[in-house]
Amino acid sequence: MTLRTVIVGLSWIAADPAAPASDPVLGTAMPFSHASALAAIPEVTVVAGVDIVPASREKFLATWGSRWPGVKVYDDFRAAIATEKPDLVCVVTPDHLHKGVVLAALEAGTRIIFCEKPLSINRAEADEMVAAVRAAGATMSVNYTRRWFPSYCEARRIVRAGEIGKLSQIVAISGGPRAMLWRNHTHLIDLMNFLADDEPEWVLAELERGFESYGTVYAGDGGNDPATEPGANFYIAYRNGVRAYVTGVKDTPPGEPTINLLGPEGRVVMDLTGMRKISFGAGNVRVGPVPIVTEVIEPKATVSGMHAAILDLIAAHREGRDPQSPPEVARRTVAITDAILLSQQRGNVPVRLSELAPGA
Ligand SMILES: NC(=O)c1ccc[n+]([C@@H]2O[C@H](COP(=O)([O-])OP(=O)(O)OC[C@H]3O[C@@H](n4cnc5c(N)ncnc54)[C@H](O)[C@@H]3O)[C@@H](O)[C@H]2O)c1
Repeated sequence: MTLRTVIVGLSWIAADPAAPASDPVLGTAMPFSHASALAAIPEVTVVAGVDIVPASREKFLATWGSRWPGVKVYDDFRAAIATEKPDLVCVVTPDHLHKGVVLAALEAGTRIIFCEKPLSINRAEADEMVAAVRAAGATMSVNYTRRWFPSYCEARRIVRAGEIGKLSQIVAISGGPRAMLWRNHTHLIDLMNFLADDEPEWVLAELERGFESYGTVYAGDGGNDPATEPGANFYIAYRNGVRAYVTGVKDTPPGEPTINLLGPEGRVVMDLTGMRKISFGAGNVRVGPVPIVTEVIEPKATVSGMHAAILDLIAAHREGRDPQSPPEVARRTVAITDAILLSQQRGNVPVRLSELAPGA
């Protein structure tokens, strides 16, 4: 069966081709854009791309016209969705423009939706989207891409298998010039939820210097200008006792976060040099060092990132289950973002998530 697909928003993350592999006989590198991931899934046919910028539409046609002969471009997502009646819609508009596309797709009968992160820029929009998805009986996945990174999946497996004892603390160092609450930190917040593996209960936060009086309402520009979104240091307490400490302000180095997962019997360390599991054997630390075993971990996967995310979404729809990143789970990240802002506004005090629950 063919899945007729429309991509709305055609920037690089939507439309770039996958890079060539380091070896010429090994094909292409891992797809990292929506179109390149979709192109790797034979049952998907992209029937249209939508963007308000003519040059983006032309570039899309030039890049993908031969992969999907007959693919069209539109400047209006409502017209594209009404005409093409897609089975699957990829929502790749700026951070604050996801809701309109999601609701239009559901109204037109689309039942598989792959929406970029963040789900939305406030809880009211998130609640509306979650309710609409469920009322339509649709399947939606929010592209918190790290949920399909082999290293983070392996870290979660190690924790679930009890290999470091019961997970106690997560320490994450992120930041860099694009430390932005909704644009980039949303990945980090979701990653804490993914690794902690339970519901957040309360949050304590401090916005970075210069943003002390930011307030509680999104004042970003869709994720472009870092000056419009604060970085933050924050602390998330989970129902299962796990605590996540996150540092994420702009005057620090950029890059994928450094993450330590700590349990009584070991730690998992993920940083720019790779991934290690460090196990601490039984012993008495008062009388001598306990045995320590360091294992370098190189997770293997046949698919990853966005490619895995879309395969997961399609399979979830067929099987009538939730994908790895359903909208209710993505909504937790929106609520934590709101709690970070509220904590700052109230004088850097704890904010309970129950206060921000739907209908509360
Ligand atoms: N998962 C990831 O790793 C990842 C990486 C980058 C971006 N993103 C997300 O992807 C989304 C897009 O990010 P971006 O930086 O490309 O944003 P952007 O501001 O460049 O906008 C994306 C595209 O949408 C188009 N657009 C704007 N309004 C539109 C409308 N009403 N109808 C149709 N097209 C419209 C723009 O012209 C642009 O080409 C954001 O939500 C962002 O957070 C995710």
